[in-house]
Amino acid sequence: MKNSINKTIDFVKKTLEHAEAGHDWFHIERVYKSAVNINAKENGDEEVVIFAALLHDIADPKFNNGDEEIGPIMAENFLKSINVEENVIAHVKLIIQNMSFKNSFDDAGFTSKEMQIVQDADRLDAIGAIGIARAFTYGGFKNRVLYDPEIKPEQHLNKESYKNTTAPTINHFYEKLLLLKDMMNTKTGKIIATERHNFMLQYLDHFYKEWEGN
Ligand code: ADP
Ligand code: NI
Repeated sequence: MKNSINKTIDFVKKTLEHAEAGHDWFHIERVYKSAVNINAKENGDEEVVIFAALLHDIADPKFNNGDEEIGPIMAENFLKSINVEENVIAHVKLIIQNMSFKNSFDDAGFTSKEMQIVQDADRLDAIGAIGIARAFTYGGFKNRVLYDPEIKPEQHLNKESYKNTTAPTINHFYEKLLLLKDMMNTKTGKIIATERHNFMLQYLDHFYKEWEGN
């Protein structure tokens, strides 16, 4: 297994060489480490957790004309090429197909303990200190303002506000980041998420104070 993990790491690093900062190898590495950490407490199948964590963003639909099948198929083909067991490949593929934030709005999707662990690890990377950094990186890339006191942050998530392409980056906290704590699947994930969530609340508090010159 060690050998196939190293091969997978090399494949992912190479494939994501030119990825943007939010989804580069370092994002994958953080998700991989968190997933292994969570799994140590939650006792899922480690092999499935590791492959799914490493391959979950191998082809983001956002950068592939919205095609949601490219990622799972790339993952499947790669794992076949290094002779990973078929049932492991099938499970990893299902996880990747069903993991995105968008897909998590549909209740009917596939689930498993391993899927829940990897999804928690991915969500954890969107909150806390790293999550804040990622949000402002994304906002900068889209040339958005940090905050606009005239535009009130959306207090409730709806698909329309999530798609709004001009909203200040602070809105993203209310549209997504502050909601993730209650969307965590595992007990271990919830504990880590709560700590990161509280840090974001503290951050927002400082942000608004500083905005007023205090
Ligand atoms: P994921 O990789 O978790 O599926 P996304 O692809 O939606 O998430 O987003 C990647 C990163 O960019 C995340 O940290 C997310 O919070 C951030 N991001 C996504 N949309 C926005 C937005 N509208 N404003 C600021 N940050 C965003
Ligand atoms: Ni991800």
